[in-house]
Amino acid sequence: MAGPLIFPESWVWGAATAAYQIEGAVRDGGRGISIWDVFSHSPGKVANGDTGDIACDHFHRYPEDIALMQELGLGGYRFSIAWPRIFPTGAGRPNAEGLDFYRRLVDRLHAAGITPYVTLYHWDLPQPLQDRGGWTNRDTARRFGELAHTVAAALGDGVHHWVTINEPWVAGFLGHLLGVHAPGTRDLATALTATHNLLLAHGEGMSALRSEMRDGDAAGIALNLAPCVPAGDSNADLEAAYRVDGFSNRWFLDALYRGQYPDDMLQIYGDAMPEIRAGDMERIAQPTDLLAVNYYTRSVVEYDPRDPFLQAKRIVPRGAPVTAMGWEVYPEGLYDILKRVHDDYAPPHLLITENGAAYDDALIEGKVDDPLRERFLHEHLIQAHRAVSDGVPLEGYFVWSLLDNFEWAWGYGMRFGLIYIDYATQERIIKRSGHWYAAVTREHGVSG
Ligand code: FCB
Repeated sequence: MAGPLIFPESWVWGAATAAYQIEGAVRDGGRGISIWDVFSHSPGKVANGDTGDIACDHFHRYPEDIALMQELGLGGYRFSIAWPRIFPTGAGRPNAEGLDFYRRLVDRLHAAGITPYVTLYHWDLPQPLQDRGGWTNRDTARRFGELAHTVAAALGDGVHHWVTINEPWVAGFLGHLLGVHAPGTRDLATALTATHNLLLAHGEGMSALRSEMRDGDAAGIALNLAPCVPAGDSNADLEAAYRVDGFSNRWFLDALYRGQYPDDMLQIYGDAMPEIRAGDMERIAQPTDLLAVNYYTRSVVEYDPRDPFLQAKRIVPRGAPVTAMGWEVYPEGLYDILKRVHDDYAPPHLLITENGAAYDDALIEGKVDDPLRERFLHEHLIQAHRAVSDGVPLEGYFVWSLLDNFEWAWGYGMRFGLIYIDYATQERIIKRSGHWYAAVTREHGVSG
């Protein structure tokens, strides 16, 4: 084994969560209803009929959770703002109780020596906005600008790192094309409209944040990115992988960093494309300070003539290790995607804002032994270190997730946490991987 891999001095060790996945308390503090409340309460949408009604009860237990973050030695904590806590009806005057909750959270994080990283939209759109078309309505992007402005004005003295939108691919396509996330529609034109408006919202959010940000503050968007590689040597597989890359990576990166959607994908989408108005692409492509990268797995792609619009299918190579989600464990993919984004798009700063794995954890005699998660994180950190060594301006790493939580359509069945939640008692138990991560944050590195 090589010697220890030590990270740069300013490197941030963090963990991430999202509001609907952990907060619970859906009726407290004047919170309105979100599309995920409606979706999770619709029969058949979420495994086991799970909902975020209680989740990890973080809304009430955040002091305990911050104490646990300290035990892990975190320098940063990424969380999201529940839009319906701030604008319960989607518009009008902000709800002071909602803002107060995040104020208390931010203050307590600072008191614990932990830097807050705030995501403004992690998928919990107020239902009243959905009733007016949700992300298919351009007005939602404007409303998001108001949210960004309101939150930055209220918290800007304590928050210096902002993420506008989390994973527009997931919100746009899983929510509107594949129908497995809220609001659950299945239509390409609808999905493309929603995705364009999500990117416009990012632009509106950036402008709003800029008006409140101080020197040295940083803001950007979070993208889920994955290298796309052909399953075999054929041209058909190669071209299919390029289309999947266009669908999931280039669509967003080209729009954000080049101000244009990729031509090959525009041709594929054809008539399903929404109207792009003058000024839209400039708004989307305005300069950002950082790119937040969420990485879980790569895409291995096979040509599939039966697939109606990309003629492509994602496969897992035979014998490859997979997580409980069925996602291939492929740490080199983290290096590959970071290096490529740096070479092709050159964002000034990068953060890994999500990386982690679900495994079938069990609480046995008060302990959770999860060597596979420890190994997963370790191998990915080796790749992150490699990216830093090769000149990628990567500045930190956030494990997904701090706590086991409501994993969207999978409900509570998928556990991603460094900390186990016993949902019957709300007891928190630091897993073996959490103790390991505490050693990593203490030593500021991993063994190579
Ligand atoms: C990401 C989401 C996050 C979590 C992980 C597993 O796509 O941003 O909320 O669900 O996947």
